[in-house]
Amino acid sequence: MNEEQRNELSQIREKSSDEGNLERIKQKTSEDFMQYFQTTYQPPNMRDAQRRKKKDTEVHYDFSIPEDMNLAGQGKKYMIRTYGCQMNEHDTEVMAGIFEEMGYESTSNQKEADVILLNTCAIRENAENKVFGEIGHLKSLKVENPNLILGICGCMSQEESVVNRILKKHPFIDLIFGTHNIHRLPQLMKEAMFGKEMVVDVWSKEGDIIENLPRARKGNIKAWVNIMYGCDKFCTYCIVPYTRGKERSRMPQDIIQEVRHLAAQGYKEVTLLGQNVNSYGKDLNIGYGLGDLMDELRSIDIPRVRFTTSHPRDFDDRLVEVLAKGGNMLDHIHLPVQSGNTDVLKIMGRKYSREEYLDLVRKIRLAMPGATLTTDIIVGFPNETEEQFQDTLSLVEEVGFEAAYTFIYSPRDNTPAAKMKDNVSMEEKKDRLHRLNKLVNQQSADAMSKYEGEVVDVLVQGESKNNPDVLAGYTKRNKLVNFRAPDAVIGKIVPVRITKAKTWSLDGELVEEKVEVK
Ligand code: 5AD
Ligand code: SF4
Repeated sequence: MNEEQRNELSQIREKSSDEGNLERIKQKTSEDFMQYFQTTYQPPNMRDAQRRKKKDTEVHYDFSIPEDMNLAGQGKKYMIRTYGCQMNEHDTEVMAGIFEEMGYESTSNQKEADVILLNTCAIRENAENKVFGEIGHLKSLKVENPNLILGICGCMSQEESVVNRILKKHPFIDLIFGTHNIHRLPQLMKEAMFGKEMVVDVWSKEGDIIENLPRARKGNIKAWVNIMYGCDKFCTYCIVPYTRGKERSRMPQDIIQEVRHLAAQGYKEVTLLGQNVNSYGKDLNIGYGLGDLMDELRSIDIPRVRFTTSHPRDFDDRLVEVLAKGGNMLDHIHLPVQSGNTDVLKIMGRKYSREEYLDLVRKIRLAMPGATLTTDIIVGFPNETEEQFQDTLSLVEEVGFEAAYTFIYSPRDNTPAAKMKDNVSMEEKKDRLHRLNKLVNQQSADAMSKYEGEVVDVLVQGESKNNPDVLAGYTKRNKLVNFRAPDAVIGKIVPVRITKAKTWSLDGELVEEKVEVK
């Protein structure tokens, strides 16, 4: 940015003084918005999002902050509140990286923030309610500090109904953008800082892959690495294929380079991210899949490589064969089943039966006898009978899941399941969830109890969330272990003897002498 541009920027900043901004809020009357609706505003469109083109996604390596926004954040602070899955957590790291390249510093104190973004989740209604509650709280901050920029991004922004609700009921929001145009954050910030109207930039269709986005990663031990974006599965209950767009895989060499770079920086674990990682590579048409990628990552000097989330339908033999080789491949597979009943699976659009799922589990168990299996389950899908629910319970027992994320079905706008009539009462759904959780807890506790007296390898993450005097970390089988040790072991993989098993975690003590580790 040259002298002239700097002067221009400071003049614009002066103009957007408190008074000016209060004026901006006042200007946002409903009449203005109705006019805005009818003229410039294009809502994100679910039907457009569903139309998937064959056209190859383009990959760009030329991201840069526009010159006039290079220093826009100097002396200013940003805060991003993240809801939902690891994909969102990682998107937050990218947005944080962009803010920091613009000169912003991060803060966790909302009172001192110059910009607050809510990176939202749309997967279930309660996730959305939390965000709307938070938007309500933010209003008072905006009144206190009219220069504050408030933005909503992430999956909820991709929903037409959400954008319309914000436009009508929360006009003090400055900026709404979706999941496909995070790389435009500098331009969007500029429009939000200096424009008069709420900036809405939500794309119905996914964009290209932008490779060289900056990332301000949380911590220096574990890192997330996107391997693909979007989902083409269209399970009938799920909003993700609409909010995240069609499946787009990153090129293998870009992923491998990123993992190598993380290894060189001293990271100990990477988690490969995608909504359906087992589809990785299909859109590239180069006969290369997740198994091939994992096999290449095996030779990188990083102790642990995980991936999430899997879809049983695409989990192929090649991947099982590579995971069985061990090394930095971990003994834990998260394999969402959703239901144990074939008819329900069919209506869910999962494209596998109970038997096919159990066959896959047998294959995995044969190749990786000690592996931990965990899952996701939805109860109370429209018209699910007690018998069908019993099939879910029996499958949980048969597989021996050691943990599960369990949910009550939540109808999502414009998904096929939301149009189905439902004869299951909320009381019944809650009761099923309760019964399922009781079984899962029991299985988790049983699996934990087997570790008492054993020595396990723990990647030490840092202080335990509940007790700062204790350190915490995970085993290769994804068991949380708490133990006392000097801070010097943080970031290392150390042997720990398990002294006590709890339902969801293990207590242990550091093994000082050299012992053989399980
Ligand atoms: N209602 C309840 N749970 C859902 N999930 C996805 N969509 C819904 C919905 N509409 C669950 C699935 C998925 C996990 C991430 O969230 O179990 O695997
Ligand atoms: Fe949603 Fe199914 Fe895609 Fe998972 S695989 S993100 S549940 S549509």
